[in-house]
Amino acid sequence: MKTTRLVMLVMTIAVALFILIPNLSWAADDGATLYKAKCAMCHGPDAAGKPAAKIPSLISDEAKKMSDADLAKAVTEKAKHPSTVKSLPADQVKAIVSYVRSLQK
Ligand code: HEC
Repeated sequence: MKTTRLVMLVMTIAVALFILIPNLSWAADDGATLYKAKCAMCHGPDAAGKPAAKIPSLISDEAKKMSDADLAKAVTEKAKHPSTVKSLPADQVKAIVSYVRSLQK
């Protein structure tokens, strides 16, 4: 009887972790993956930009001072951004902005 309950407990925890962990890391990965696919070729993998090519740093003090809304707006409205960047859906822009914030720390 006791063993059955222990097995049930272990199973419940295993199922809970199985459901939770992929979701958590997936959400974090998403912004990183999107950044690498859509932004890194210009702004650099570390978001430091390319001064020689007039591509601004996203981890500068100026960029840190920008609000999330400002950053999101820049992504979809900068004339220099390719249409594949400007047309990113809002939820993906949000994921990228939070990834950029993590690079700013
Ligand atoms: C084709 C190269 C290119 C790609 C790809 C690109 N950017 Fe940019 N980005 C630029 C350039 C060039 C500017 C400066 C434009 C200007 O000042 O008018 C800029 C400006 C910005 C700014 C405004 C910075 C500031 O200091 O005002 C942000 C924020 C930004 N980009 C974020 C992103 C993000 C996030 C992505 C990916 C979704 C991205 N960019 C993809 C070239 C690029």
